[in-house]
Amino acid sequence: MKARIGIIGTGWVGTSVAFSTLQAGHAGELWLYDQRSAVAEGEAMDLADGAAFYPRCRVQAVPLEKMREADIVVLAAGRNGRPDETRLALLRDNARIAAGLGRALQGFGGILIVVTNPVDVLTRVVQAASGLPLERVIGTGTLLDTARLRERLAVRLGVAPQSVHAQVVGEHGDSSVPLWAGARVGGVALRDWPGWQAGEEATMAQAVRRAAYEVIQRKGATNHAIGLVTAKLIGCIVNDERQLLPVSRVQDNGVALSLPALVGASGAHQITAPAMDRAEREALVASSELLDRAFRSLSE
Ligand code: 2OP
Repeated sequence: MKARIGIIGTGWVGTSVAFSTLQAGHAGELWLYDQRSAVAEGEAMDLADGAAFYPRCRVQAVPLEKMREADIVVLAAGRNGRPDETRLALLRDNARIAAGLGRALQGFGGILIVVTNPVDVLTRVVQAASGLPLERVIGTGTLLDTARLRERLAVRLGVAPQSVHAQVVGEHGDSSVPLWAGARVGGVALRDWPGWQAGEEATMAQAVRRAAYEVIQRKGATNHAIGLVTAKLIGCIVNDERQLLPVSRVQDNGVALSLPALVGASGAHQITAPAMDRAEREALVASSELLDRAFRSLSE
């Protein structure tokens, strides 16, 4: 199926999502909206000019109301982080924008993907403002941190990232929780992998948490990896792939954070929490409490 995909916000991230989605061939129609309407138009024109080089898709700028007709809408509007600014520091500015967009999408029949940071708190804000079912408001969450972890493990061990089965859960941010106890490389527990040292876990966890800061310090934003992550999520939904991916959604305790979910045409469905050791469980509880406090701070 070729879907109608809408992207709200055509800055660094929205345009990278658009590019990756077009290349992957998931969209039959790609609709762009930005408050700066000329920018959305210019991006649509530029992308449409390349139509000979990606699977058939019509790209156009549209008014916000049109997004209600899409199958999937990606929220990428808001300001991005300054060098060394935490994702949570963006909260107040971006929550206002996200709540307004959530209200504008009340009654929307498709799936909303939230990308704007702080993505977990905004997933909760957008879900509350839109009133959509929990499984239909998905934050990209730690799918990006997971990609970063798999890449670093792959380089360290000299194997392909596709052979590394490891994931990060919790906040997409400074309290993210890599799950070392369950990590496997080609069926072998990472902790049994020849030469793997337990001391490497803390260093690698920190490198994954610092990854975005390092990029932002150099080029001002991150956009390519999150574009690919979002296109991957779109593909899973459009093709009803039912892959288990660590994505953010409002969980049973009311807090939005990432845990593996089954992602397909009807959204992100909760599954049983993965096996964790005691330290990982405690870190996940701490991450959840931090995100809950951040959400509650909005009404103070
Ligand atoms: C990232 O991790 C900044 O959340 C964005 O690339």
